Amino acid sequence: MSKTERLSIPQVKRWLKEKSGKTSALANKVSEWANLSQNPSARVVDFGCGTGALAVEMAKRNTLAKIFGVDINDHRDHSLITPPNLDYYMIKPFSLAKESLNPELIILSQIIHHVPRKQVSAFIKDINNSLVVGGRVFIHEHEISESRIQILEKTLLTLAESISNRCLETMEVNYNFLTKHKLCELLEENNFKILKEESVQRKFVTIPQLAGNRIILAEKK
Ligand SMILES: C[S@@+](CC[C@H](N)C(=O)[O-])C[C@H]1O[C@@H](n2cnc3c(N)ncnc32)[C@H](O)[C@@H]1O
Repeated sequence: MSKTERLSIPQVKRWLKEKSGKTSALANKVSEWANLSQNPSARVVDFGCGTGALAVEMAKRNTLAKIFGVDINDHRDHSLITPPNLDYYMIKPFSLAKESLNPELIILSQIIHHVPRKQVSAFIKDINNSLVVGGRVFIHEHEISESRIQILEKTLLTLAESISNRCLETMEVNYNFLTKHKLCELLEENNFKILKEESVQRKFVTIPQLAGNRIILAEKK
């Protein structure tokens, strides 16, 4: 990048995550939970890959795996070097299954809260239909509490994310923050079996956030 080029907000966020080791830590966690050392040539989709930072880290760690960075918007950071086992695809919403990428693993990192409430079931169904039999999904997602302050939490989170996404990044997005219970229910209704889940709070994020985060590994039934 030339000295006169300005860094975009997604680039700054990506850089902060990289420097703090958070992207690398998340890639390690995904590889560990998905047991990629036992399936080194796995096909992995990072859906909603954004800048591509996590897809790059996954490709660097799992050199025999085939990684696909897929998104419905082009937020790629072209200053990142693309490893040879990584390809990018831009697709229409809810059409991942049509791409026939046949992944054994799909990563959804901070995506589900951008899917409108009425379409979230169709989104998870599309994820399920995209996976091979016995394929898995790794989710890293904000979670709001089950308590009565839920409405306040949702409002504050939506406000904070709107300022970041719409004003600073000019990204037009929806917000649909879910509780752990609701997310697990949606996965089970759409033919997934939950294998593991863990509260990770702010372990894999850099910008201070109002809500905690959870990781979930689920398998296609
Ligand atoms: C908060 S960013 C997360 C980027 C990256 N996964 C990360 O963890 O840094 C959300 C991304 O989700 C994508 N997105 C929003 N709605 C989507 C949908 N229905 N299907 C796939 N991706 C979607 C956006 O284009 C954006 O790149």
